[in-house]
Amino acid sequence: MSLPLFNPFDPRYVADPHTYYARLRQTAPVQRAVLPDGQAVWLLTRYADVEAVFTDPRMVKDPRSACSPEQLARMPIRPESTRYARTNMLSRDPPDHTRLRRLVSKAFTPRMVEQLRPRVQAIADALLDAVADRGEMDVIDEYAFPLPITVIAEMLGIPAADRDQFREWSDAILTAIPPQPATPEAVAALEGLARYLGDRFEDRRRAPAEDLITGLVQAEEAGDKLSKDELQGMAYVLLVAGYETTANLIGSGVLALLEHPDQLARLRADPALMPSAVEELLRFTSPVKTSTVRYAAADVSVADVVIPKGEMVLVIITAANRDPARFPSPDTLDITRPDNKHLAFGHGIHYCLGAPLARLEGEIAFGTLLRRLPDLRLGVAGETLTWRPSFGLRGLAKLPVRF
Ligand code: HEM
Repeated sequence: MSLPLFNPFDPRYVADPHTYYARLRQTAPVQRAVLPDGQAVWLLTRYADVEAVFTDPRMVKDPRSACSPEQLARMPIRPESTRYARTNMLSRDPPDHTRLRRLVSKAFTPRMVEQLRPRVQAIADALLDAVADRGEMDVIDEYAFPLPITVIAEMLGIPAADRDQFREWSDAILTAIPPQPATPEAVAALEGLARYLGDRFEDRRRAPAEDLITGLVQAEEAGDKLSKDELQGMAYVLLVAGYETTANLIGSGVLALLEHPDQLARLRADPALMPSAVEELLRFTSPVKTSTVRYAAADVSVADVVIPKGEMVLVIITAANRDPARFPSPDTLDITRPDNKHLAFGHGIHYCLGAPLARLEGEIAFGTLLRRLPDLRLGVAGETLTWRPSFGLRGLAKLPVRF
């Protein structure tokens, strides 16, 4: 029997993944399907299964430790096959994963991140200063993207003038995150970014500064075993993992609030609800990272289905976050939702390193927008908004607003 096609670029799916996942979760929660490039994949849509796979050490990141040579040979060439995209923590398993994560984890603890609050606030204010007199803006291009890229670029120590170039590279790279096939543009962007980061590491070797790239160079010089590819892979993952995801949280979160005026009014009336609102927006919009990939390094039973060794698994975070078995009324936005243990940041050893930073950026982005633009409203009819086609991320192409 032929496998059903899972095409994340189907316009109906792009417009509304939730209806598709709800049906799958009900009828076939552990479903084998085929991607547009012919690769077979398992789709997991239930919270309990997704949570279990995230903590199962037999579900690994690196296909080379899970798949047979024949299985590897059948895989389409993908951007992660370029050396340095493969050498970052997100695509590694222990012990390499543990070693790489430890090198930067200190910079991302809630305490360290809290120190960034004044700077993040100043960036948000400056972005709104630039549009305040105009009465309208595109939230995506003028707020949601520039905020996180500025923050992470400053943390790394990347010159402000180069940030537009980053967005171009990042856009091209993200059109091809695994398991999408690598387009020539994506490979060129990966190579461009790798060369650029390589030069920044050389700069910092010559002239140390107070930034993460210097910290990584010094860790390497102090004897931590960090290859050149790993150094660049680290900067790459920090840039790419933390940028479009946070932009999507801001963009989709603003839309969700504008489409739920009761929730928006509640939040305006009681700004102390902001941390809880951010958690609910993370769950409700699953801005990420709609899904993430694992490979079965052994035959693994999920619910009552055996996923054979070497097969690829798509862990669908968006679907888990709307599972009625875990979240009462999952399709309702409730900024006071209790016990909101969503999986928007993943779970287990790869749990988002940047979660404290993303939460801070979300709180400041929403809080500043609501405080400074009291009569914020959609600039176009909601139905005309379009989502950027993407394999594993979900974000609006534009979000025009008036104020
Ligand atoms: C990992 C989501 C922001 C850095 C992850 C994972 C998810 C995620 C789901 C786990 C993926 C997996 O298990 O395969 C998000 C969301 C964000 C966000 C929804 C914003 C709303 C950030 C930021 C940074 C960051 C701001 C840093 C600057 C990372 C890194 C990893 C990661 C380095 C890999 C961790 C590891 O492999 O141990 N993120 N992320 N993320 N994220 Fe985030």
